[in-house]
Amino acid sequence: MRTLKFIISQYRANLGWFVIGMSALIAGSVCQTVVPIYIKLAVDAASPEGFKINEGLAGELALKLLPGEMQQNMDFVLLCLGMVLALSVALGVFTFMKRFYLIRISRRTEYNLKKKMYAHLQDQPAAWFDNKRSGGIMSLMTSDVEAVRMMIGPAVMYIGGTIFLFPASLLIMLSLNQLLTWLAMIPLVGLTGATLWFNPRVRKYSLRSQEDLEQLSARAQENFAGARVVKAFSREEFEIDELRNHGQTYLENKLGQARNQALFQACIWGFSGVGVLIILYFGAREVAAGRFSTGDLAAFILYNLGLYWPMIALGWVTMLFVRAGASLNRIDALVENKPDAGQIPGGDQPADIAGEIVFDKVSLRYAEDLPFALEDVDFRIMPGKTLGIVGQVGSGKSTIAALLLRLIAPTQGRILIDGKPIEAYDAHAMRSFIGYVPQDSFLFSDTIANNIGLALAPDDPERAEVIRKYTQAAEFEEEVASLPNGFDTMLGERGVNLSGGQKQRASIARALARRPRILVFDDCLSAVDTDTEERILRNLKAETREITTVIIAQRISTVVHADEIIVLDHGRITERGTDAELRAAGGLYSDLARRQELAAELA
Ligand SMILES: Nc1ncnc2c1ncn2[C@@H]1O[C@H](COP(=O)(O)OP(=O)(O)O)[C@@H](O)[C@H]1O
Ligand SMILES: [Mg+2]
Repeated sequence: MRTLKFIISQYRANLGWFVIGMSALIAGSVCQTVVPIYIKLAVDAASPEGFKINEGLAGELALKLLPGEMQQNMDFVLLCLGMVLALSVALGVFTFMKRFYLIRISRRTEYNLKKKMYAHLQDQPAAWFDNKRSGGIMSLMTSDVEAVRMMIGPAVMYIGGTIFLFPASLLIMLSLNQLLTWLAMIPLVGLTGATLWFNPRVRKYSLRSQEDLEQLSARAQENFAGARVVKAFSREEFEIDELRNHGQTYLENKLGQARNQALFQACIWGFSGVGVLIILYFGAREVAAGRFSTGDLAAFILYNLGLYWPMIALGWVTMLFVRAGASLNRIDALVENKPDAGQIPGGDQPADIAGEIVFDKVSLRYAEDLPFALEDVDFRIMPGKTLGIVGQVGSGKSTIAALLLRLIAPTQGRILIDGKPIEAYDAHAMRSFIGYVPQDSFLFSDTIANNIGLALAPDDPERAEVIRKYTQAAEFEEEVASLPNGFDTMLGERGVNLSGGQKQRASIARALARRPRILVFDDCLSAVDTDTEERILRNLKAETREITTVIIAQRISTVVHADEIIVLDHGRITERGTDAELRAAGGLYSDLARRQELAAELA
């Protein structure tokens, strides 16, 4: 039902094209139906017993189609053949129009679906992507959309053709000779049986192999992305085996599909052959008895073939429908998946903010059955001040950053910016005030300038200058200058690869270039040496006097200058104060500081 509604909605949206396409389809079917009549006339005119018109529909049609006086000569045969040629040309034109317009609708559907799905994907909360394989998301956008397109275009086109052709052929056959028509139907019953037997099997194997293929490509994609790990852990043999297993089941299912399709094809030819035999045998007796002309027999055979095609198409088309139905369900599940609050537009869009941040007894757990990742986290950062957060791996530091960016929502407690809960703001507007440097610095396969200027308008006249200035602040400019194309150097797939430290600095420059009111640094200096770190921090101090800053670090040296430092342990704040106060307190912080300074001296 859902599938049918969807098809109708698509045709309604492209009504003009649909009308043209369907008219061409009907006109083409009419041409196809009329051709055998001219063939009948030509055969009859050429036969030695002379011209004889059978009664019934075909006879009446033939009478109408004959120009003037009936003649029994070669001219007439040529005229008939000329008509066949003209009808064939017309059929060609109509076929072109039918395909062109109906396929056009399906391509339009494909385009719109992809656009809509992509927008929905962008709206999904960040956490949604965490437990999805990107291969699976990609196959939604590719093979599922393709399945829907095949239904909107080709499937409906073939079904539409047969809806007219089948009854027309049957009616004319009945009018030519009823007994012969019923006899000719016998193998058709056999073919129907074969369709009912083979089609579910072909469908089963086809759907299974579709799933295999998705598994296969998801696995391969993950593998290539993790090629270094695979090699470093000598997992190549294992991975090849895994892929071979997936490939094996894919092969088996495809072979199963091929076997059933081949048998079905054999049945089609077998039954249609039997059909022709029956018609020839009984038809010849009718001709001999004078109840049937040779031309009628020829036309009868041609119409009979017109009954087989719908049966063949039907199986294929049902498969397309079933597959498209499954794909539509998957697409619906994506489109109907409500994005969380952090993605819903609406709310305050302040022109500027001061940048005061308050965490009011914030607790968070990622899922019901997981322990709290943060518990009762309480702090206030005044505008322009810096908060340092230190703690061991897994203590909840990145979770604080994610909460502040509304990538996740707190389980308990409130987060306030300028005294208002963050939910009161429009998520986009609020994020536009935040410069975020994530823990893993993701860069796009684009130029360095485009990566750093990600948040800047392409036509911003100060763009180049802003990019240069903040790249300098991130202590990255000299290295960029030494690259072959400077800021225009391509990264990733089509260009150079940066080291971890270079990526971190590019991503710091990107956050600064947004000229934010709030900066969030998530452990983003871990891969740069302490000297560079010191210089970056000094630059930052000059740049960020007005900016509220949250610096997350594992290294104490990163946060020493912060106005306040909190120490996280298993999601709880265990110590807080300035560097001096925390060192004097003699807790975890002073321990860490001493150990790290000792290690630095030894190095
Ligand atoms: N998306 C997630 N789903 C479930 N648990 C998570 C997720 N992200 C982090 N965690 C868990 O939450 C805790 C805190 O993680 P995180 O904030 O990343 O720590 P840190 O940044 O201090 O290393 C860890 O126990 C981690 O395993
Ligand atoms: Mg972290």
